[in-house]
Amino acid sequence: MTDPLLTELLDLAVEAARRAGALLRDGRPDDLAVAQTKTSPIDVVTEMDIAAEKLITGFLADHRPQDGLLGEEGASSPGTSGVRWVIDPLDGTVNYLYGLPTWAVSIAAERDGETVVGVVEAPMRGETYRAVLGGGAYADGRARADERRLAVRPSPPLDQALLGTGFGYIQARRAHQADVAQRVIPRVRDIRRGGSAAIDLCDVAAGRLDAYYERGLNPWDLAAGALIAREAGALTGGRPGEPESGELALAASPGLFEPLQEILEDLGAWHD
Ligand code: IPD
Ligand code: CA
Ligand code: CA
Repeated sequence: MTDPLLTELLDLAVEAARRAGALLRDGRPDDLAVAQTKTSPIDVVTEMDIAAEKLITGFLADHRPQDGLLGEEGASSPGTSGVRWVIDPLDGTVNYLYGLPTWAVSIAAERDGETVVGVVEAPMRGETYRAVLGGGAYADGRARADERRLAVRPSPPLDQALLGTGFGYIQARRAHQADVAQRVIPRVRDIRRGGSAAIDLCDVAAGRLDAYYERGLNPWDLAAGALIAREAGALTGGRPGEPESGELALAASPGLFEPLQEILEDLGAWHD
């Protein structure tokens, strides 16, 4: 039987993500502009990133005031319950700014430091991806009745693998990431750059990508999507022997994980 705490955390995460997703989808101003920049002039925040984080943290604090919070747009409190929420209120901000559909709300819950619940809401796809530790990964369509279990695609040979990746916002890092991608691309079927790490990870879970890697992610980009990918049968990690982290995050169907990890290690995908 599922732990009632995890059921509660999942239900709250789904509801918070749906509300934030609806706000972002229905409330996007036609003249949406950049409100602030962060690590570089192309690392942008809009008023909607901030509004979505406020909605999510307010909702979670109303229901579970003792929990800790870590949100990309500044939410940070330790909490006293052993549960911490890790929130990217809008993953894929550049897509959102330009009116492209690949963006998501990502909410994970950690218990004693371990991710136990992950929800990624992708409003323009009409899909919600969710997982509970040990309970499998699922996608809902417009209604929960459309629920389907997620499973990674059987691993193809590496030269037939479709990979996702992404590029950070710092110029020197981007240049090296482009160099790594240039060396990976002749060895695989193709590479996609979707623009939302959370959706890339869910696409591995759903068998829409064979693997995904990126350097420089933050916990809020990764936490929910990595759990969803693992619960759908993917292997996740970083450099050999390490868990996925800002240094390197890789999620792949089992037969591709080690060969890709080796290639990324050889190419120095983990440094700038
Ligand atoms: C970004 C997206 C993008 C990835 C970047 C992330 P943001 O998150 O996930 O796909 O390549 O590394 O920072 O800034 O849109 O929340
Ligand atoms: Ca993000
Ligand atoms: Ca974000």
